[in-house]
Amino acid sequence: MSAPVLPPSDAAIARAADTLRAGGLVAMPTETVYGLAANAADGDAVARLYAAKERPSFNPLIAHVASVDMAQAQGVFSDQALALVEAFWPGPLTLVVEAQTDCAVSDLARAGLPSVALRVPNHRVAQRLLAAFGGPLVAPSANPSGQISPTQAEHVAADMGERVDLILDGGACAAGLESTIIDARGDRPALLRPGSLDPAEIERVWPGLVRPQLDPAAPQSPGQLLRHYAPKARLRLNVTAPDPGEALLGFGPGDATLNLSPAGNLAEAAANLFGMLRQLDQTHDRIAVAPIPAHGLGEAINDRISRAVKSA
Ligand code: TXA
Ligand code: MG
Repeated sequence: MSAPVLPPSDAAIARAADTLRAGGLVAMPTETVYGLAANAADGDAVARLYAAKERPSFNPLIAHVASVDMAQAQGVFSDQALALVEAFWPGPLTLVVEAQTDCAVSDLARAGLPSVALRVPNHRVAQRLLAAFGGPLVAPSANPSGQISPTQAEHVAADMGERVDLILDGGACAAGLESTIIDARGDRPALLRPGSLDPAEIERVWPGLVRPQLDPAAPQSPGQLLRHYAPKARLRLNVTAPDPGEALLGFGPGDATLNLSPAGNLAEAAANLFGMLRQLDQTHDRIAVAPIPAHGLGEAINDRISRAVKSA
């Protein structure tokens, strides 16, 4: 039976919070992508979440919280980490910090690590759900592991409808790409996953951003797995002239099957990326992607499409 897709009325939020308290799974909109939420403190619920996504359980999850206070109850923030919090929360920034000794986020959700990943999402529906629930919620993107992240409630219903208990419909996600993940434990901020927050913004508040070369065999972020965000279609990148029969996902002025941003705006392209990949995947078995600049949000966009292309 497919889960109900509910507009976010007060009654729907209350029902979602009850579902979470009972160990269930609720898809919720955030400003980045739709997340599949479970009670972070409930190991059984988290196990159900890993199973629903068919996600390898060595990948830790992001805990979403309602406030900075709730975040500080879970993790230890340096002054520099707090400066990032002040500048960018609520928003598409996840901080990895040392876990408090009484951190409520279950060992399974943290993959046994001494650290915890935290963020305050900037979306009314997510905030209302967090307030109604009253504790941290883990919420990876609400798609089967390795597939394209959902940016609309219909995407979740199509991919995960049979595996979740309830879907809150909050419309299309404004940012369209997952949060930027920063390891904030050291003397310098370390970029673990490029995302919706431009790294240049981080630099403005806490300079010295490092981009650690991580071991792809032991990813700290599932986004670091080589094949991720994958459509069924074969993808070619940096294409200016598509082959016959190939769809063109364009960027900037010019003919294209679908265009991420005719004006060449990277934020618009980020918001459109997953939805357009999904659309083309339904109508074509070959997709060419136009060149996308590497600066600013282009780093995160190129990261996602390069992982979508690397198939065996
Ligand atoms: O935009 C987002 O962040 C979305 C929306 C739904 O909020 N959520 C999301 O969550 O992408 P998830 O669980 O798929 O991504 C969590 C990322 C993973 O790449 C994980 O490896 C990393 O955060 N992570 C979690 N805990 C960590 C830790 N202790 N150390 C390093 N990385 C960690
Ligand atoms: Mg994901």
